[in-house]
Amino acid sequence: MRDLTYDNITERIIQAYDGTEDARLKHLLTLLIGKLHEFAKEAELSQGEWLTAVEFLRRAGDISDAQRNEFILLSDLFGLSSLVDLIAGRQAADATEPSLLGPFHVDGTPERANGADLICGNDGARIVVGGGITSTDGGAVADARLEIWQNAANGRYVNEDPEQPTDNLRCTLRAGDDGRYCFSTVKPVPYRVPGDGPGGELVRAGGRDTWRPAHIHVRITAPGHRPLVTEIFDTTDPYLESDAVFGVRESLAVPFDRTPTDAELSRHPDIERPFNMVDVDFVLAPT
Ligand SMILES: [Fe+2]
Repeated sequence: MRDLTYDNITERIIQAYDGTEDARLKHLLTLLIGKLHEFAKEAELSQGEWLTAVEFLRRAGDISDAQRNEFILLSDLFGLSSLVDLIAGRQAADATEPSLLGPFHVDGTPERANGADLICGNDGARIVVGGGITSTDGGAVADARLEIWQNAANGRYVNEDPEQPTDNLRCTLRAGDDGRYCFSTVKPVPYRVPGDGPGGELVRAGGRDTWRPAHIHVRITAPGHRPLVTEIFDTTDPYLESDAVFGVRESLAVPFDRTPTDAELSRHPDIERPFNMVDVDFVLAPT
């Protein structure tokens, strides 16, 4: 290929990947090469700007490890993660809206009984989160597993804080056959996404801030249904409108301060008073 020109380069590079056997991969590569070239041409990207971008990505790799993935943060900060969630949401109309997985999910958190108490020694306002899991087909979803993870009163997740006990404020719950689930915990708090790497540079360059509104992460899997990854937000959180990573959806913000009924108070005799109720129902789409 010795006759590359400004005008033919995109077509020629796409042709070079013509032998890609996987049809979906070939489609993605063709689109990606086309859009990348279109971006560079429209921006009249300079060699210096190209080098800056490549170095930016190299530093994102350098700061990433098994506990931290700077590329997920960059995807979040560019709104790409939320766009992918919204695309998934379009394919599962009427189901609960998906939201960010984030960088702190781990597989295989310990399984706890439905109704588990995650409060343990954690500081913070006590809440009981509960509701039902149903299908867009109608009816309760049986045998659903909920993975839950959130931050502690100091704003940090157990993954990034060696001072917290193992698996603090995270677990896997199995909902009842009636689709009901419940757990008690402390209110999560707003926190800043990591600002010491390329993600932080991007936020500062854009005149933005690194705050996220408080949230509880939830991942639900159930036989015969699409997995759901989403987040639950408090309607009174001051950062709902300015979430650094664009994860908030109107339907995912719920009151965190409902007063428990007498029946609910007697159902949770072991939770120190006062506590509040958080009602969250989930709707899954069949596969
Ligand atoms: Fe989070």
